[in-house]
Amino acid sequence: MIEANRHADYGKALRAIDREMLGPEAAARVTQMLELLPIHRATPLRALADVAKTLGVQSVYIKDESHRLGLGSFKALGGAYAVVCLVLEEVGRLLKRNVAPSELLDPEIRSLVAQMTVGCATDGNHGRSVAAGANLVGCKASIFVHDNVNRERVDAIARFGAKLIHVPGNYDDAVAEAERVCRLEGWTIVSDTSWPGYERIPRLVMQGYTAMVTEALTQLPKPPTHVFLQAGVGGFAASVAANICLTLGTARPKFIIVEPDRAACLFESNRVGKPIKIEASEPTVMAMLECYEPSLLAWGVLSRVADAYMTLRDEDAIAAMNQLARPRDSSAAIIAGESGGAGLAGLIAVMRDANARTMLDLNATSRVLLFNTEGATAPEVYRKLTNLDPAEMTSMADPI
Ligand SMILES: Cc1ncc(COP(=O)(O)O)c(C=O)c1O
Repeated sequence: MIEANRHADYGKALRAIDREMLGPEAAARVTQMLELLPIHRATPLRALADVAKTLGVQSVYIKDESHRLGLGSFKALGGAYAVVCLVLEEVGRLLKRNVAPSELLDPEIRSLVAQMTVGCATDGNHGRSVAAGANLVGCKASIFVHDNVNRERVDAIARFGAKLIHVPGNYDDAVAEAERVCRLEGWTIVSDTSWPGYERIPRLVMQGYTAMVTEALTQLPKPPTHVFLQAGVGGFAASVAANICLTLGTARPKFIIVEPDRAACLFESNRVGKPIKIEASEPTVMAMLECYEPSLLAWGVLSRVADAYMTLRDEDAIAAMNQLARPRDSSAAIIAGESGGAGLAGLIAVMRDANARTMLDLNATSRVLLFNTEGATAPEVYRKLTNLDPAEMTSMADPI
């Protein structure tokens, strides 16, 4: 299913705070901070020439985030970056001066940082990023995981020394519990979703993602005409769309927001014209996109710049994972986790539907940009869905 953006704000300029926080200048500051990390490298942008030819568009490129900072998803950029920013702010407040990121190695500063605790709810990837950020700077982390977070993803968080707190229910239940406990304990909540009165930190998380967008725009031979963006609470899609709009201005592409049909909170919010919480239903295979309430902050961006919202069946997401894993031409395989290939699945679904193609002006002149937002962040699940071993595939693919 696909529907055009019908919100009254559609086409309006982004809010001043989003322009300031999500534009190219902000992205450059994030990149500067990333460059302090020896492990940082731009992720590859790969051409899907065979896919473009089969679908009848001029080009398809996919920004491959499957190895970002060794954490397996683009989320590595958001939570960890926000933790570093918040710790710098807090130490600066205690010492009554600006503290540079390089000072985080200073033992005196580290002893102050060691007193701090950050917390968040997660489907898996955001918690891993927050835990990695806390581990890097030396503060404590408490990560709230719900019933549907797969064991492998929980273990990956625990490896960073974070405390894991189990919450019965789904992602939205974990968000509510994380908020309650962090407030009670005086911990800093580093959420990737926002709610009334809590926007500054999620905006920092989204700011972290913008470094990836600048990389993609620099790597592309020509700017895209269409971008398919998978969404959970919408933070990823909003960050990418805002940064591209602020970089390309009126030459901006069309943005199509892709959600699982079992957790389409942005799609439904667009239908009613305001952000709504939808009923939780059966879990979707796209576990990272299983969110039932949009981030308010993301909604503020997407209601202005998203061109269309679409839903996706689980089987289409699995087919896209397999297609990326087994390219029909000689290009290297791309390891896309359950939520990673959703953008490609969205493009394929639209190209099969003549009305959707016309609505979006997708034709032989279109240049499509996609994001593989995660690799095999749950290797067992990946093996089950593709019959391939991601460990063996990593050695086959080009090094990053
Ligand atoms: C791999 C992956 N893709 C996409 C998303 C969607 O991001 P958001 O919840 O900001 O919409 C997530 C969120 O966790 C993710 O982990």
